[in-house]
Amino acid sequence: MTDSDWTRLCATGDVPEGEARSFTAAGKRLCVINDGAQFYVLDDLCTHGQAWLSEGYCDTEDCVIECPLHGGLFDYRNGKPAGDPAEKDAPTYAVRVEGEAVLVALAGAPA
Ligand code: FES
Repeated sequence: MTDSDWTRLCATGDVPEGEARSFTAAGKRLCVINDGAQFYVLDDLCTHGQAWLSEGYCDTEDCVIECPLHGGLFDYRNGKPAGDPAEKDAPTYAVRVEGEAVLVALAGAPA
């Protein structure tokens, strides 16, 4: 991966520990999670319906984000469904922290 593959998404301080926030990069709305040890990025739109995962509850013990609409759970480390009614993977993206910047790799990402 080259430097040009990385897009600055936000500052590390923009996402409080144990919480999720929404940011847009390259026209894509993304959910950024700070679990205290690492940052994770996945599509913000739930794969089950019309809800933003960034507005859901983030459980850093079980590494899941709970959709605010129907309570579907997604493992935020890999986007895998972890609780009904979530069935389809949430697309995830490679993340890198450089200084105070959270960078995401969107190359090859689903449109
Ligand atoms: S919209 Fe997210 S679980 Fe239904």
